Amino acid sequence: MQITPSILNADFARLGEEVARIPGADWIHVDVMDNHFVPNLTFGPTMVEALARSTDVPLDAHLMIADADRNAPAYVEAGCGSVTFHVEATKAPVRLAREIRAAGARASMALKPATPIEPYEDLLPELDMLLIMTVEPGFGGQKFLDLCLPKIRRARAMMDKHGIETWLQVDGGVSLETIERCAEAGADVFVAGSAVYSADDPDAMISALRAKAAD
Ligand code: DX5
Ligand code: ZN
Repeated sequence: MQITPSILNADFARLGEEVARIPGADWIHVDVMDNHFVPNLTFGPTMVEALARSTDVPLDAHLMIADADRNAPAYVEAGCGSVTFHVEATKAPVRLAREIRAAGARASMALKPATPIEPYEDLLPELDMLLIMTVEPGFGGQKFLDLCLPKIRRARAMMDKHGIETWLQVDGGVSLETIERCAEAGADVFVAGSAVYSADDPDAMISALRAKAAD
């Protein structure tokens, strides 16, 4: 069970300090948005590289950007330990996953809520992690979509069937109220943005989320 807080709801003017407030995080989830794949804009590889230098916690980049084939490798170079591209934004997911792995990062693929898992079953061994979105990507603080739970269950069943160790991440609306449902469905890596950064003590919230997920 791993908790990967998203900095999307942190204070961008003080990112180094904001990251220092969550020493209990397993990874720092960095949401890269290009105002094209999603209707919101955050930051690019230069900022991610500066953030990677500022912390010992590894970075988990979630690329909500178009043309992932061309744009994703820069985030491995920027120092991310894990790079997630969206399947809806790549023309060659197998090639891209192999490229990310060869460059030394964990390769991960994300699915939006309306994207089915079934066409990608045979690709799972190429991935270190599968991200199943539980909101439409683009913004923090949205309501968790229960309609994504059956897909999490089906993905977990596929991984068990193939006997592979791919991590299964959920992202969007994960909180003390919803994390148990995700864990019960088979997720083992949990992104939490507003739940962590709206808490008075973000690091204590990470521990509370971890305890709920393990229940
Ligand atoms: C949404 C992002 C999420 C977001 C999560 O597009 O990918 O990582 O920051 O924020 P919450 O936990 O508030 O839904
Ligand atoms: Zn994200």
